[in-house]
Amino acid sequence: MAGYSAWNEESARSIIASLAHLEGATLPMLHALQDEFGYVSPQAVPLIAEALNLSRAEVHGAITFYHDFRTAPPPGRVIKLCRAEACQSLGCEAVVAELEREHGITVDGAPVGDAVVETVYCLGNCALGPSALVDGELIGRVDAARIAGLCQHGKAHS
Ligand code: FES
Repeated sequence: MAGYSAWNEESARSIIASLAHLEGATLPMLHALQDEFGYVSPQAVPLIAEALNLSRAEVHGAITFYHDFRTAPPPGRVIKLCRAEACQSLGCEAVVAELEREHGITVDGAPVGDAVVETVYCLGNCALGPSALVDGELIGRVDAARIAGLCQHGKAHS
C-alpha cells in the first residue's frame, strides 16, 4: 500500500511514546498510528492502554466511537466521491443512486472486491463536479460507470 508502513510494534511504540505527554493523548495517538500504518491495529490497543494507564476497553471505546479509524488494513483502492453542495447540484446523488441500482455498489458500504467508495465533502474541484479522488488523483465529471470501472481495476482477471 503506497504511503503506509506494514504494522510494526516497535515503531508503534515509538509513535505512542512520542505523544504520551499530550493531554487527551488517545486521539492523537490513534491518528498518528493510522497515518503511519493505514489503520489502527488491534495490537496497538494494549500499547496505548499501557502508555496512558487506561483500560483496553477505554482505548477500544475511543476507536469505535470515532468513525475515522480503520481497524483493518485499508482496501487496495479508495474512491472518494464528493457529495458536497456544488457536486450535488452537478448530479452526484444521481451517481450514487446509479451505482447502487446498476452496479450494486453502495457508497460508504461494503467493499467492492478490493475497493471502497466513500463520501467526502468537497475536493476543491467544484466547477468540474461530480468530483472523485481515486488513489490521490482528482477526477472531474465522474459518472457511475467510470466509478464502477475503477472499482474493478484492482480485481484479478476472471
Ligand atoms: S463540492 Fe464537490 S468538489 Fe467541491
